[in-house]
Amino acid sequence: MVRMRGGSAGDTGQGAIARAYADHRQPEPRIAELVHAALGGARTVLNVGAGAGSYEPTDRAVTAVEPSASMRARRPGHLPPAVDATAESLPFADGSFDAAMTTFSVHQWSDPGRGLAEVRRVTTGPVAVLTRDPGLVRDFWLYEYCPKVLDTEARRHPALSALAEGLGGDTAVTRVPIPLECSDSFNEAYYGRPEVLLDRSVRQACSSWSFVDEPEHDRFQEQLSRDLADGSWDARYGGLRGLPEWEGSLVLLVSTPTSAPVSTA
Ligand SMILES: C[S@@+](CC[C@H](N)C(=O)[O-])C[C@H]1O[C@@H](n2cnc3c(N)ncnc32)[C@H](O)[C@@H]1O
Repeated sequence: MVRMRGGSAGDTGQGAIARAYADHRQPEPRIAELVHAALGGARTVLNVGAGAGSYEPTDRAVTAVEPSASMRARRPGHLPPAVDATAESLPFADGSFDAAMTTFSVHQWSDPGRGLAEVRRVTTGPVAVLTRDPGLVRDFWLYEYCPKVLDTEARRHPALSALAEGLGGDTAVTRVPIPLECSDSFNEAYYGRPEVLLDRSVRQACSSWSFVDEPEHDRFQEQLSRDLADGSWDARYGGLRGLPEWEGSLVLLVSTPTSAPVSTA
């Protein structure tokens, strides 16, 4: 198992990101509802790449797995402490959990295929994966301002077909609508509030920005500030400011084993 002290088993260092995460990444209740519904009547739930606990249900017995010490330290007291492990090597017996979930995490795993096989091995029922469709990631105004950050997201996120294949069984994919006042702090949460992304600490809460170098951050800052000041952003994208919700690349993929027991929820 690959581990970095205080860091991540994935492709980013989680120290600085964890600090920004605590400040900016709050679960969005409407997205949480969709994730929880996908877990059906499960009583025991595994949450992989659990971070500080966003989207974790509190009305079921949850086992959280999180390899980053910085993230584990940021879990609030009302949630169970997380197990220090990675998706690729889960320290649980076959069929230990009724359902599993992983939110905004699978793109950071060093070996998603192995991680998904592990999650499926230890789970008897549905596995819910909140992730991005890499084929849709670039269809967002941010691409015009910082292509690097969305090229990075597109490269890091596994294809939905690979996720489906890795989990096996029957797969359902739904696009997740993002509310205008989304309380979580991923890039698309600001589809209609571009000014917020001018705050460097907001960007830092999204790990893809850690792949962007200083000159690119500066260029982004200058170009977006200028276009907001002279009205050119609004001329092209201002309609987004009034949309109560928007569908970007965020998707919920739910895999159910073909022989799964019928949910009693
Ligand atoms: C963007 S955070 C998401 C945290 C939380 N699930 C959420 O929705 O806010 C991604 C998390 O995945 C974790 N992670 C990275 N590589 C992992 C791996 N191989 N196995 C399990 N978790 C991993 C990171 O340490 C980080 O906490």
